[in-house]
Amino acid sequence: MYAERVLSGMRPTGSLHLGHYHGVLKNWVKLQHDYPCLFFVADWHALTTHYEDPRGIEQASWEMVIDWLAAGVDPERATLFIQSQVPEHAELHLLLSMMTPLGWLERVPTYKDQQEKLESKDLSTYGFLGYPLLMSSDILIYRADKVPVGEDQIPHVEFTRELARRFNHMYGREPGFEEKAREAVKRLGSKRARRYEELRTRFQQQGDSEAVARAHALLDEVENLPLDDRERLCGYLEGTGKMILVEPGALLTEASRMPGLDGQKMSKSYGNTISLREDEASVTQKVRRMPTDPARVRRTDPGDPEKCPVWQLHQVYSDAPCREWVQQGCRSAGIGCLECKQPVIDGILREQAPMRERARVYLDDPARVRDIIADGNARARRLAQETMRDVREAMGLKYA
Ligand code: TRP
Ligand code: SF4
Repeated sequence: MYAERVLSGMRPTGSLHLGHYHGVLKNWVKLQHDYPCLFFVADWHALTTHYEDPRGIEQASWEMVIDWLAAGVDPERATLFIQSQVPEHAELHLLLSMMTPLGWLERVPTYKDQQEKLESKDLSTYGFLGYPLLMSSDILIYRADKVPVGEDQIPHVEFTRELARRFNHMYGREPGFEEKAREAVKRLGSKRARRYEELRTRFQQQGDSEAVARAHALLDEVENLPLDDRERLCGYLEGTGKMILVEPGALLTEASRMPGLDGQKMSKSYGNTISLREDEASVTQKVRRMPTDPARVRRTDPGDPEKCPVWQLHQVYSDAPCREWVQQGCRSAGIGCLECKQPVIDGILREQAPMRERARVYLDDPARVRDIIADGNARARRLAQETMRDVREAMGLKYA
């Protein structure tokens, strides 16, 4: 049985905030129950933009991993690792760079955008141009089927798919491919072989993509199907060569637009964040100091929640009766703003309590975090080495 694999990475930005929690981490926590997941710290990616001052990346990486664990990412379920500790990513990046058309990289929308946005940095570097390719290597090296990302990263996943296709097309035509594929079909057993052939014909004659999906499902059911055979059967099905690299799909993470303290999206660059494990006094103080509807100068002035950032947080943290209480009380000047803020404070603290609890274990004993990552690095590395064996062989670098 071959379970679909999920992979995602995050740049080490230091301690995470509630926007990361609602936008990304909650989703990871959910996914880890449904799929084998790999989550990694993209420390090399941080270097593509912060090459001038790399100090701090390592510290930020450890902080971030603690936040993942605090949020409920479970190292028993998901493999957590650090990109630079699996050097195979770099080898795949190099090998893929040989066959990646320069134009493909120049056309990635984030390339020009980011260069313009981060004008203060000189991003006319080889590394920055190659960043989507590095991301492709991260994905392809684990033969990941699903990649949870935000909208801005979708073009990178699409780029990865095209690259995988190009790679398989170029290097997947091993000598005697057809014969080997037909033998693999026979090994499926007569009933499955017949079904596979039917689906293959249906796809090749009618372009029926449903047939491809069914054939993949059929292959998933085969116990102990060798990876080699699987690659051949997938390629033979669609009339391409052996599928050495798997085309991933993006799993779009809905933009959660977690509001910050000023009503804009919560973001470090706006200075409007509450960190994941911010201490209680500081959370209380930050919310108490939040701006409210400017029309409510005095306690007796009625207000409009639509004009107040506190209301946006009520929509995240409060239940319907409480929201009704806010609407009513604000518009009639029946409640004061500090009173109105209290349920938000309580809601945030309630959400953070288990996170603080989980983090404490790791803060008290940092060796545990190192062990989790060492374990994850080793597990990830085994998977990466498997893919690299096939990639090297396909590119004529077997030497044995
Ligand atoms: N590029 C992603 C970002 O900046 C991080 C990332 C790197 C990633 N490699 C990845 C995400 C592979 C998903 C899969 O947010
Ligand atoms: Fe905002 Fe609440 Fe004050 Fe109304 S009562 S202005 S919603 S904080």
